[in-house]
Amino acid sequence: MAANQDKVLVTGGQGFLGAWIVKQLIEAGAHPIIFDLRQSDDILRQVLSEEQFAGLERHYGDIADPEQFKTLVLASKPSAIIHLAGLQIPTCKVNPVLGAQVNVIGTLNVFEAVRLLAAETGQSPIRIAYASSAAVLGPKADYTNPPVPDDFYHKPATIYGVFKLANEGSARLYWQDHKIPSVGLRPLTCFGVGREIGLTSAPTKAIKATIVGQPYVCSVTGTTGFSYVKDVARAFIGAAFSTSDGAPVFNIRGEVTSAEEFIDYVRQILPAAEKLITIDGREVPIMADVDETGLQTMLASVPAPYGLTGAFPTPLPDAIRETAEHFQRLQAENRLHVRDLE
Ligand SMILES: NC(=O)c1ccc[n+]([C@@H]2O[C@H](COP(=O)([O-])OP(=O)(O)OC[C@H]3O[C@@H](n4cnc5c(N)ncnc54)[C@H](O)[C@@H]3O)[C@@H](O)[C@H]2O)c1
Repeated sequence: MAANQDKVLVTGGQGFLGAWIVKQLIEAGAHPIIFDLRQSDDILRQVLSEEQFAGLERHYGDIADPEQFKTLVLASKPSAIIHLAGLQIPTCKVNPVLGAQVNVIGTLNVFEAVRLLAAETGQSPIRIAYASSAAVLGPKADYTNPPVPDDFYHKPATIYGVFKLANEGSARLYWQDHKIPSVGLRPLTCFGVGREIGLTSAPTKAIKATIVGQPYVCSVTGTTGFSYVKDVARAFIGAAFSTSDGAPVFNIRGEVTSAEEFIDYVRQILPAAEKLITIDGREVPIMADVDETGLQTMLASVPAPYGLTGAFPTPLPDAIRETAEHFQRLQAENRLHVRDLE
């Protein structure tokens, strides 16, 4: 794809979702600019080609620090921001104050930087596509009439979910008060190469453990919404280049099935999993049966080169096979991380 003029600032761009979003932006001809706290290449190098990695623009800083991020936004004048920087469920549970600083104040800093950019340039505010989470939903027992629509009233079961819900409210008010357009997306159990941390990382680790021949107990059981990372990346890029006004938030349904069925697919694709992988844990306390009509409608209206092509979502067995093959390639090249299995 020929290069275009679109500069997209990706906060948390060195993480799991970020690496795949950066890869797809490059493939669409855009210029991603990464802003992340850690100076780490690990996940990017597992996901990007050498050539893609070599041309990356990266900046390091803390999203909770308003000055650093503001300076970058004013200097780079991006066409859109994809905001992913954040701490996951286990970290927010152990350290809620840090969790709020990064996940809540960090998100306000993104909106404030966009407000300032619009004031400086005199142009309309740029769009922010930000990572909310299915964790804004409560457990299955909270809902009597699924599938759950985008705008249902929720009572999250984790403080991380409470923070994400606060961000959805902030986004709504930044549209109301400052006409900053945004789109929030709510993935649930994302899987694929690079998924190393978080409550729902176990299904990915089960694939990886099988490839390296290591026994592994998958701690996720029962029904959840599985989303292949490539699909989630497509949804974020589509959201960043969507055209409607307002601050909508969309469920991402993915494929709603049980962890047991996911592991059965892994066993069909990788027979060694039969002996190596067992399941013993608990159900993810987040309702998975959500309606994603809003997401599909939004993505259908996104102009090329960022609009959807091909099936969405990718059929689960195809996505698991691709992930297994990617891990196998990395292992053959002696580049596969196993630190998350330790
Ligand atoms: N992976 C999932 O299944 C999932 C599901 C729902 C929502 N989300 C949300 O999507 C986003 C991305 O998730 P991910 O799986 O890629 O997570 P990740 O942990 O792999 O990546 C997050 C990135 O944010 C960076 N970061 C953390 N604190 C920062 C700070 N203070 N300043 C700047 N950067 C900071 C990290 O270094 C990391 O590179 C997160 O906001 C997460 O809450 C993820």
